[in-house]
Amino acid sequence: MTDFLGDPCPVELQDDGEKLSTDELRTRQLVQLQTTVRAAYENVPHYRAALDSVGFKPGDLRELSDLGRLPFTGKQDLRENYPFGMFAVPRSEVVRIHASSGTTGRPTVVGYTRGDIDRWADLIARSIRAAGGRAGDVCHVAYGYGLFTGGLGAHYGAERLGCTVVPVSGGMTERQVDLIRDFGAQIVMVTPSYFLSILDEMDARGMDPRETSLRVGIFGAEPWTEQMRTEVESRTGMHAVDIYGLSEVMGPGVAQECVETKDGLHIWEDHFYPEIMDPVTGEVLPDGELGELVFTTLTKEAFPVLRYRTRDLTRLLPGTARPGMRRMEKITGRTDDMMIVRGVNVFPTQIEEQILLVEGLTPHYLCVLTRPGRLDELTVRVEAAPGLTDHGPPAAALSHRIKTHIGITATVEVLPPHALERSLGKAKRISDQRH
Ligand code: DLL
Repeated sequence: MTDFLGDPCPVELQDDGEKLSTDELRTRQLVQLQTTVRAAYENVPHYRAALDSVGFKPGDLRELSDLGRLPFTGKQDLRENYPFGMFAVPRSEVVRIHASSGTTGRPTVVGYTRGDIDRWADLIARSIRAAGGRAGDVCHVAYGYGLFTGGLGAHYGAERLGCTVVPVSGGMTERQVDLIRDFGAQIVMVTPSYFLSILDEMDARGMDPRETSLRVGIFGAEPWTEQMRTEVESRTGMHAVDIYGLSEVMGPGVAQECVETKDGLHIWEDHFYPEIMDPVTGEVLPDGELGELVFTTLTKEAFPVLRYRTRDLTRLLPGTARPGMRRMEKITGRTDDMMIVRGVNVFPTQIEEQILLVEGLTPHYLCVLTRPGRLDELTVRVEAAPGLTDHGPPAAALSHRIKTHIGITATVEVLPPHALERSLGKAKRISDQRH
């Protein structure tokens, strides 16, 4: 946790949902869950079959713990019902579609009713406020616009809060810098990796990010570390806070870090019910334990999900800045991004933590996995800071840190600035070249 904390959102500005006590929340969640399960059962053939297969009828849901009797839902279930088979309302009531590209096969398609879009805007407005943004701020949205939920999700919420929204989307980094300067944005919403590119462009122009009007960065859509927060905050003097979400559950705004605590993300539990499970055994784990995050939506009409396996790894913690709602720890990584190097499990975020502790290195990096013989090898490619002439010492220092703190041997290649491909949205952190 950092000691550079922002002002809390005053209670008068908070909405009713975020002020609920845990008891009030649990009562409300049970009613919402009963409604959601019934709607899913009655309107989505997949859920009807899934519940029938375990002999569960919507009327059997009497307590929140009964949720544990329902089967999990996975990405494969959504793919098999491509494109609109998981919708719980007639297509004519769906006012918006989003989709995630999916590296293999069919994209995952999600839909929203007018009411869903409305609640989403409210939750993003709540998230921006919790991050330290206020009505009247200029909000620069550099998440991609289009089928990705980042741009449009952020956009409608920032408007709902009363911000002046600059819908730039990702790309054209020089123009991003021009517009931040000329329009005087206080808030920027962007992936942390792309924000680093924006900062590099400022550096290249000799512009000091501390002298811009930027006050708050709302960073998400990919994992990033406490060390990255320290790096961004010290370079810019702004607050860097985390926003989480996924298209299958809604999009951004499922959970948000509060600027006054920066201690993980409050899950907006009046709309989403979280669980943590062991991804191998399927067993539900108690709060505090690390495992795969699972969500059940409580208020979604067009696309309800029951026990959706996110593949994201985190743990649930008690509420702080919003005492009624639980927090989730910053995401360590995805089950699919776990590298197993000679038997040791490693996530790119662990590598990022070490990189940022070595002087002369930047958080532009790529983990390359190869298998030259029978064993996996990890090479970390990382860019040097501008002006670094001797790459040897930081390479040795990083390699040593990885060995001591993570317990694996990695080859480190320090590359000149800008040698790695930049992404305009989510950064690619792993290149798996094992055949
Ligand atoms: O990335 C939604 C989003 C947009 C969230 C903008 C935040 C800001 P998808 O493209 O469906 O949706 O990808 C969802 O991205 O399961 C996580 O693996 C990852 N992810 C999202 N936010 C975070 C975060 C959007 N704050 C997937 N930290 C999720 C770590 C994140 N990973």
